[in-house]
Amino acid sequence: MDTYAVFGHPVAHSKSPFIHAAFARQTGQALIYTAIEAPREGFANAVMQFRARGGKGANVTVPFKEEAYRLATAASERARLAQAVNTLRFDGAEIYGDNTDGAGLVRDLTVNLGVPLAGSRILLLGAGGAARGAIPALLAQNPARLTLANRTVQRAADLACEFGALGLVSASGFDTLAPDYDLVINATSASLAGDLPPLPESVLAAAPFAYDMMYGAAETPFLALAGKLGCARRADGLGMLVEQAAEAFLLWRGVRPQTQPVLAALRQQLQHA
Ligand code: ATR
Repeated sequence: MDTYAVFGHPVAHSKSPFIHAAFARQTGQALIYTAIEAPREGFANAVMQFRARGGKGANVTVPFKEEAYRLATAASERARLAQAVNTLRFDGAEIYGDNTDGAGLVRDLTVNLGVPLAGSRILLLGAGGAARGAIPALLAQNPARLTLANRTVQRAADLACEFGALGLVSASGFDTLAPDYDLVINATSASLAGDLPPLPESVLAAAPFAYDMMYGAAETPFLALAGKLGCARRADGLGMLVEQAAEAFLLWRGVRPQTQPVLAALRQQLQHA
């Protein structure tokens, strides 16, 4: 049977084995998908061993996505733009790298949540790896403008410069943000520490939609604040997780699984955890 795995450190918490097993059942594909914790200094080695044992492909999560890009012998355009890879496909001698995170975010927003991105004013918080993967995919939707806000403004400015050819993108600090956005996306890792990105409350209060790439059993601190300030519609990143997995499954198996039942099952698991 074809085998796949997700590599991370840590990886025990990963929902990818559950998601891909559900996709395989649903589409009648015979495959095995496991989670492999690679040592921090041993990612490439672990992947090559897996491939030597007959592995067909892999997902890659924190902290190995940039290393996975360097390991790939060929890469998709979106992986090149992100300089990071979350999906590997082993094809004979080739190690093909793709990045499905941005597509997963856009699909969750537009298809699952019905948020129009074309012509909209988008505020993206953060300038790390998570933001980087999202920027090209968001710009491809032709928003009216995309603003990158980051605590370290220079990092946002560097990204705006790098992706400037793809669309209307600019950089800002948090304190000078004006309350004129249709969608605010949190791509900072602040929630990991139970923290909030320090943006003016008026920005969230005026936004019709807030999205957090993080998720958890309870509402994330960012979404809880948005709700308190009157932001009517909010969503966490569980849908993005399932959609990026569906894109990877499509790359490996040539069929796109239905994501709704898997997302519903995951949400139920989270709530009963
Ligand atoms: P990731 O790959 O998850 O994006 P990263 O590359 O370490 O992780 O980037 C983390 C992002 O979250 C950065 O934009 C960081 O801001 P800085 O560039 O100023 O460091 C942001 N971040 C982390 N903790 C934060 C906090 N408490 N408040 C605001 N931004 C925070």
